[in-house]
Amino acid sequence: MSSENTVNPRTILVTSALPYANGPLHLGHLLEHIQTDIWVRFQKQRGHRCVYVCADDAHGTPIMLRAEELGLTPEQLIAKVKKEHERDLQGFAIEHDNYYTTHSEETRHYAELIYKRARDGGYISQRAIVQAFDPEKNLFLSDRYIKGRCPKCNTDDQYGDNCEACGATYSPTELLDAVSVLSGATPVERESEHYFFRLAEFTTLLKEWTRSGRLQEQIANKLSEWLDSGLQEWDISRDAPYFGFEIPDAPGKYFYVWLDAPIGYMGSLANLLERTGGNFDDYWGADSAAEVYHFIGKDIINFHCLFWPALLHAAGFRLPSAVFAHGFLTVNGTKMSKSRGTFIKAETYLQHLEADYLRYYFAAKLGAGVDDLDLNLTDFIQRVNSDLVGKVVNIASRCAGFINKRFAGRLIDEHSEADLVQAFAQEAGTIAQLYEQREYSKAIRTIMKLADRANQYIDQHKPWELARGPDNLPRVHEVCSVGIVLFYYLMAYLKPVLPVTAAKAEEFLQLELGWPDGNESLGSHEIAKFKPLIQRIEQAQVDAMIEASKEQSTVQHEESKAVNDDSEISIDDFFKVDLRVARVISAEYVEGADKLLQLRLDVGDHERTVFSGIRSAYAPEALTDRLVVLVANLKPRKMRFGVSEGMVLAASGEDGGIFLVETPGASPGMQVS
Ligand code: MSP
Ligand code: ZN
Repeated sequence: MSSENTVNPRTILVTSALPYANGPLHLGHLLEHIQTDIWVRFQKQRGHRCVYVCADDAHGTPIMLRAEELGLTPEQLIAKVKKEHERDLQGFAIEHDNYYTTHSEETRHYAELIYKRARDGGYISQRAIVQAFDPEKNLFLSDRYIKGRCPKCNTDDQYGDNCEACGATYSPTELLDAVSVLSGATPVERESEHYFFRLAEFTTLLKEWTRSGRLQEQIANKLSEWLDSGLQEWDISRDAPYFGFEIPDAPGKYFYVWLDAPIGYMGSLANLLERTGGNFDDYWGADSAAEVYHFIGKDIINFHCLFWPALLHAAGFRLPSAVFAHGFLTVNGTKMSKSRGTFIKAETYLQHLEADYLRYYFAAKLGAGVDDLDLNLTDFIQRVNSDLVGKVVNIASRCAGFINKRFAGRLIDEHSEADLVQAFAQEAGTIAQLYEQREYSKAIRTIMKLADRANQYIDQHKPWELARGPDNLPRVHEVCSVGIVLFYYLMAYLKPVLPVTAAKAEEFLQLELGWPDGNESLGSHEIAKFKPLIQRIEQAQVDAMIEASKEQSTVQHEESKAVNDDSEISIDDFFKVDLRVARVISAEYVEGADKLLQLRLDVGDHERTVFSGIRSAYAPEALTDRLVVLVANLKPRKMRFGVSEGMVLAASGEDGGIFLVETPGASPGMQVS
């Protein structure tokens, strides 16, 4: 089978959805990248030409606003976030051939090209629409930036599109007492010219494509509902100010982030090919023979299975071979929660646990469907410890000592267990098929059954007992050599899932773990000294990770609440708080807020706005040029009146009086510790 593969290697392009560049990666993102990475590593191990590209999704209003909140330019923000994302992805051994950004010349090139071809084909229309507009921020407001009272049930604090309390849907203009979340201003209606992609023109194509066996059935069914109820024109433009690409023939109009996001797959590939050589059209050309697969979450199927294929077709590119959707990650049975400490950032996980543990656990639970996947932390510890440490690695550790000490590290020349070894080699086809079909949990079950057999074999022959009689040494050599050979197969099958452990196993076995083809012979092969390949997970590590996840959320989200328990914190906890000297540039009353002053602060290299509850103690004009202490890394908070970018420290007592903490003589931006 594998000789067939090497004669006839497939050319495969694989992508994971592009994470937004406005926040850290969490374990939900990692579910997707791990699922994809296992598939890619498997294809590579089988000898196929497989290219895996991804990027940060860098455009759109939330990223623009986030940068503004942080006092950064969007370019600075996306550069910083990209570094963090890359660090985390590497930490999980995700082996992208290229990790790029959509804010790139390559992506701009293909976005313009696709737009122009669609326009010239008559698939772009243009008309004025009326939208909510924030007159203070000078920004059109999407539904999520408008809040007010539900017109049906009167519940306060509802978004512009639907009510979380009664489920009513409405337009933002129907909301009562609507305000812009960004400024607190009352939105007005304003007209502007928009560009639309005429999606309905592609209905027949899409009906056919979505039913051609390329999609999971549940996904195809969902898409049918949309296709049957009629496709609307898709609004692909946004007005300035917007962080994105300006539309070539429309000054002041920008491509909507979801137009250029999937084009970012092309941009990342093009960027890779600039470095490695290779022809873009071999992958995306209309008659490319390559296979193209997108791994995505189930929340973004409309973009990948309707808009994207239609755009590709309109512009004369080939369509994806398939789109693979997965479900959502829950932790301990529920949505990840910041207060429970189960909103686990990739970075936090890696500070406490090994990448391979999570890769294994996800693989052991992932199927080809779109069901959600639960990370049950108790089950996680148990499963990893009993399967990886207790079963797989145990085989090597039980056999290696004898081989190393008694037989100078050399495996036996010939053994009499050909059948057993063959049984392991013969599973290569089944396991390959399961990986190929993304039935990882079934692949893992098959591999673990083999691991059980290997352990039974060793238990049955008990080399540690044999070793007591000097006459038995050849048997010890044989049993332990067979054990190592079986371990070799197990690790070869697990290599796509456990790249870190597999690399250590390769060092120990002193050979590369290719995909088995039944012809491997380890007779007289020399192995290295055994070092433990993987440690047990201790409950304390998981507890510490949960604690750390809680801590982050307290520091970031509860700025005005006093610390409500009196437990001690470590010096490390304290150093997480970034305290800076800030000079008050100006202070103003806030209309409708009788406790607040709005402060404009100079923090050395940038300025910020902070709302502070000190109005009862200070007249605005008395504050100018005072040097105060700012909590600089507090997550910005949207208040009714605007966004507060931090908090200034003040002393206050029960019987009144508020006293700003001041640092006379210091310069703005200095660290306070
Ligand atoms: N930027 C878009 C994707 C553009 S692709 C051309 C986006 N970004 S995202 O950061 O919100 O999500 C990236 C991927 O992570 C998506 O496929 C999404 O489904 C997935 N996940 C985000 N949270 C998730 C879970 N909790 N669980 C599993 N996957 C999740 O959407
Ligand atoms: Zn309601």
